Amino acid sequence: MAAADEVVLELDDIQSGALHERPSPYVGTYLLLRIDDSADGRELMRRLARLVAAGVPGAEAAQTAWITVAVSYRGLEALGVPQSSLESFAPEFREGMAARAEELGDVGPSAPEQWEAPFGTPDVHVAIAVLASDEAQLESVAAQARRAHEELPGIAIVWHQDCYQLPSGRTSFGFKDGIGQPSVEGSGRPPSNPHERPLKAGEIVLGYPDETGELPPMPSPEVLGRNGTYVVLRKLHTNVAAYRRYLRERAANRNDEALLGAKMVGRWQDGAPLAVSPEHDDHELGADPARNNAFRYGDDPRGLKCPVGAHARRGNPRDALDGDGSVNVRLHRMIRRGTSYGPPLPEGVLDDDGADRGIVFVFAGAHLKRQFEFVKTQWLNDGVFIGAPNEADPLIGSHHHGATDFTIPQRPIRRRLTEIPPFVTTRGGEYFFAPSLSAMRWIAALGGSGEDDERDAP
Ligand code: HEM
Repeated sequence: MAAADEVVLELDDIQSGALHERPSPYVGTYLLLRIDDSADGRELMRRLARLVAAGVPGAEAAQTAWITVAVSYRGLEALGVPQSSLESFAPEFREGMAARAEELGDVGPSAPEQWEAPFGTPDVHVAIAVLASDEAQLESVAAQARRAHEELPGIAIVWHQDCYQLPSGRTSFGFKDGIGQPSVEGSGRPPSNPHERPLKAGEIVLGYPDETGELPPMPSPEVLGRNGTYVVLRKLHTNVAAYRRYLRERAANRNDEALLGAKMVGRWQDGAPLAVSPEHDDHELGADPARNNAFRYGDDPRGLKCPVGAHARRGNPRDALDGDGSVNVRLHRMIRRGTSYGPPLPEGVLDDDGADRGIVFVFAGAHLKRQFEFVKTQWLNDGVFIGAPNEADPLIGSHHHGATDFTIPQRPIRRRLTEIPPFVTTRGGEYFFAPSLSAMRWIAALGGSGEDDERDAP
């Protein structure tokens, strides 16, 4: 019986960033830290374990800010995690994102040699995301963080990036984002798509059975791996002016421009899915959380409503791949927690103003390889799975195989966009592990007696 099978997640031990939505809109900051002194690093973990957000966020949302902490492989090393534990992490996590660049399509201007320092170097150890409903709350937490940092000279802040979500939820290309998310068994978060069963918890959090019925490979000891999740962070610069100019050149008129943009994404700017509203934008549909993710693609196999090559349909083909039985889409789902950075390019501007703007893409899931890497390499960067080897994702594809076309199926004849320039450049990224609260305390106690993890606890 479903109820008897339902897993009980240890929510109070799991950082809530993966499983729960953030306040909306929000402002925030990402920090990357380098640990120069392992004792200071462990003291940092002890302090952060008290600050990270866990549990189910209360309806009262009295929380001043949401802090999420994640550690890279190099960070675990710098914290003094024993070698046998280090070796128990997923191979791609241990390699780090820069080593996977070729496969991920991070080549040319997106290659690690071009990344912002310190991405791609061994100096990226800890990532901290702080999100708050307004600037004042963010500043009060940032002040706490600065104080803690001043007291720990063995920790250096090596990168920071302010970020935000606009009240409209739109990001730099003008589209509302963060709508399509899987629901997760035991998270307490209701599904937004009634056609998709909640995912097994082990797809997102380690220590619970996943969709294969097995426990995902978990770092050891159990206290370190259990209730943790892998995190991907990528700073993605968006060339909004080039994107707008391309649409302007190819479209017959302004309505056509909006249609081409929507066909590339799979949704209209305000979030209405093409699968439900293929002909025209529907603002009410886009704004309605009960309807804006409640759809399938199975009745549209040729993509007449939503092109099979559209970004959101590539990222999550839903039931459209069920037919041939070769791919189980549920093994390739992910939680996305992207945020915007940089000033929006004012409406109507077609010339680049040189500003750095885009998305800090954040993934959370239990399987870096079969979730993030699979979707990026097989579905977004490649067109073979939809029978279009000359095509890559029209919005974010890296085009490194020279795949620059995009087909819009329509009657009587399909429409084809060609020579689509790359609109997105990777400015840096890394693979992280977001440990549970007990894992953070376990790390904090390394190097000591092993029994003092609660010292000074309030
Ligand atoms: C600059 C980079 C990106 C932009 C501007 C972007 C934009 C969007 C937008 C506008 C949507 C539709 C809204 C929604 O369904 O939530 C979307 C959906 C999605 N994107 Fe992206 N995205 C970017 C990068 C990525 C990357 C790197 C991945 C994965 C490797 C990804 C995976 C997905 C997935 C899985 C969906 C949800 C599809 C669904 O569940 O229906 N995106 N993205």
